Amino acid sequence: MTAPLLLTGASGNVARLLLPALRDRPLRLLDRTAPAEPDGVEPDGAEVLTGDLGDRDLLARAVEGVDAVVHLAGDPSPTATWEELRGPNVDGFAALLGAAAEGGVRRVVYASSVHAMGRYEVAGHVPVDPARAPAPCCAYGATKAFDEAVAGVFAHRWGLSTIGLRLGATVPVPTKRSQLGGWLGPADLRELVTRALRTPVVTGVYPAVSGAEHPHWDLRTATADLGYRPRLDSREHAGAVEDDGTDVATCPSPGHAPSR
Ligand SMILES: NC(=O)c1ccc[n+]([C@@H]2O[C@H](COP(=O)([O-])OP(=O)(O)OC[C@H]3O[C@@H](n4cnc5c(N)ncnc54)[C@H](O)[C@@H]3O)[C@@H](O)[C@H]2O)c1
Repeated sequence: MTAPLLLTGASGNVARLLLPALRDRPLRLLDRTAPAEPDGVEPDGAEVLTGDLGDRDLLARAVEGVDAVVHLAGDPSPTATWEELRGPNVDGFAALLGAAAEGGVRRVVYASSVHAMGRYEVAGHVPVDPARAPAPCCAYGATKAFDEAVAGVFAHRWGLSTIGLRLGATVPVPTKRSQLGGWLGPADLRELVTRALRTPVVTGVYPAVSGAEHPHWDLRTATADLGYRPRLDSREHAGAVEDDGTDVATCPSPGHAPSR
């Protein structure tokens, strides 16, 4: 029997776009927000676990018998404070990796973000070379850079394969000018996650965006290592987007210090 795949953050926006690509295998869904039918079993047979990443017993049950995890649970807000981010994005991710390593999971594919490299985009060094060191533009981006670092440690020290995807603006269609250089459309999201689950690469971090007329993220490593070539291109939507006055999708100005 095929081992189940664990999807965390399963009730979120990205999961909703991704789920159609994961239906060909047994699924275990974890989120602190219950899905529409909170009876333990989704209509299509997926197993549902409702609870927080901070619950170690829940994590141990969640990874039991699992071959791979797609980890999307987290706070996706570039304006969140350290206090808001620490639980889900820092401690929660490290706890998930610990449970996965102890539970014999083969691979964790996790959502990082272009915000981990945001300062390059803001400085106009586009398309951003993924070989550069992380340069987050906000507290949120810094938690994603931490996630990339700790995922590398779990691969190095405990043999857990970890593949990070720096998701761009992951929405059905771009709606603003600032999203055109770094949009990730649903078909490309599905393609990237599917490829990340089966790549022979043990650990790595890759930009995850669709095509664009003026791309802000250099996809060469994603093509070389994952075989990814975007099927979608933001050019198809360029005529219909709102002009929000900037081409930059990551935090364009320093804003206020996240004091907590
Ligand atoms: N949406 C985007 O454009 C985008 C871009 C870059 C990266 N990402 C990343 O992708 C992931 C998913 O983003 P999203 O837009 O779907 O966010 P979302 O807020 O819609 O979904 C996240 C889900 O995670 C769950 N969650 C949060 N903290 C949890 C915890 N401690 N324990 C259990 N469940 C928890 C929430 O209940 C929610 O259902 C996040 O890691 C985010 O940082 C998203």
